[in-house]
Amino acid sequence: MKDLILVTGGTGYIGSHTAVELINEGYEVVIVDNLSNSTADSLDGIEKITGVRPAFEQFDICDKQRLDVFFEKYPSLKAIIHFAAFKAVGESVDFPLKYYRNNLVSLVNLLDCMHTYKVPSIVFSSSCTVYGQPKDLPVTEDAPIQIAESPYGNTKQICEEILRDSVRSMPELKVIALRYFNPIGAHPTALIGELPNGIPNNLVPFVTQTAAGLRPELRVFGDDYPTPDGSAVRDYINVADLAKAHVTAIGRLLNKANEPGFEFFNLGTGRGSSVLEVVKTFEKVTGVPVNYKIVGRRAGDIIAVWADTTKANKVLGWKAETSLEDTLLSAWNWEKKLRGIK
Ligand code: NAD
Ligand code: UFG
Repeated sequence: MKDLILVTGGTGYIGSHTAVELINEGYEVVIVDNLSNSTADSLDGIEKITGVRPAFEQFDICDKQRLDVFFEKYPSLKAIIHFAAFKAVGESVDFPLKYYRNNLVSLVNLLDCMHTYKVPSIVFSSSCTVYGQPKDLPVTEDAPIQIAESPYGNTKQICEEILRDSVRSMPELKVIALRYFNPIGAHPTALIGELPNGIPNNLVPFVTQTAAGLRPELRVFGDDYPTPDGSAVRDYINVADLAKAHVTAIGRLLNKANEPGFEFFNLGTGRGSSVLEVVKTFEKVTGVPVNYKIVGRRAGDIIAVWADTTKANKVLGWKAETSLEDTLLSAWNWEKKLRGIK
């Protein structure tokens, strides 16, 4: 029988891509999402791509009673991938309690249920934000954790601590935290992708919306950084590649030979790209100009970060494969589909 995996936040951006890859690898998927930052349309996309419509339960994981009902309904659950969280950095500064409540309570509830219902394996969505501005680049998993720049970033650090402490107290627990660098792009079919709420905060949705004419111009935040072209550098990772790493992580957790414990991995490409490089590559592969202007630095931004992915390459046997060119093209194809652009 196929192993059943719970994907929390599975109608969201990374969760929907991961549901596709899990189904493609023969897993059965049940999604829980309260649709606070996604729509049920992604279930249609997942079904069109895979031929399988995953089970879907709409509720808030912070509702413990409802979560208990869920675990009782699915006694064959084998593992969990926990994407559900709020993720807007700026909003978290204005509404920290909203972020602490949602991101921490959801994890605590899940861990409680995992203990009660004997589901020992969880993959957790963490972030390279835990490293702040690293002293050495590329950044390895051994780099020190720095004081978080935002309540959002802090929730990721606290969640990792909650997981680490839980592993100490629950000897059966197996945890893999995946520290994402900058996930971008969409599924190559353009049937699922990112749906930013309102004005995008992130670079690539802002680029595609500017190219589509929804935004008059992209503001490039800073050209006076100590980087080759003066703009900030990040490690942009294709979302479908990122999704595949979750399938590998699940395989590792479900492998009986694997010892319980807490493991964490960087998920990036190992290559840094500057903001201006992203804009120019986008223009080159799509042939669509992006109106941009250089403005001052954005508060809280770090200068440069990219991943040392050796640990994920060796231990998980996973590697990012899609080029920045193809990934930006996938982001544009998704934007065109959303806006009905031919
Ligand atoms: P997303 O907002 O598209 O997906 C998250 C999903 O979780 C949404 O569908 C939302 O409706 C759901 N959700 C939120 N709180 C919930 C709750 N209490 N109960 C049920 N459902 C809930 O975000 P994403 O980009 O797919 O991110 C997934 C995870 O990866 C998040 O934990 C995020 O913090 C983390 N992450 C994302 C990035 C990024 O740049 N996208 C980078 C690093 C880490
Ligand atoms: N940028 C612009 N103009 C924009 C938007 C972004 O120049 O309109 C620049 C930023 O200043 C930064 C780079 O593009 O230099 C990338 O910015 P993003 O907002 O896309 O991504 P961040 O690296 O700031 O942060 C993202 C997520 C965080 C997550 C982090 C690491 O927003 O939640 O990646 O995973 F923690």
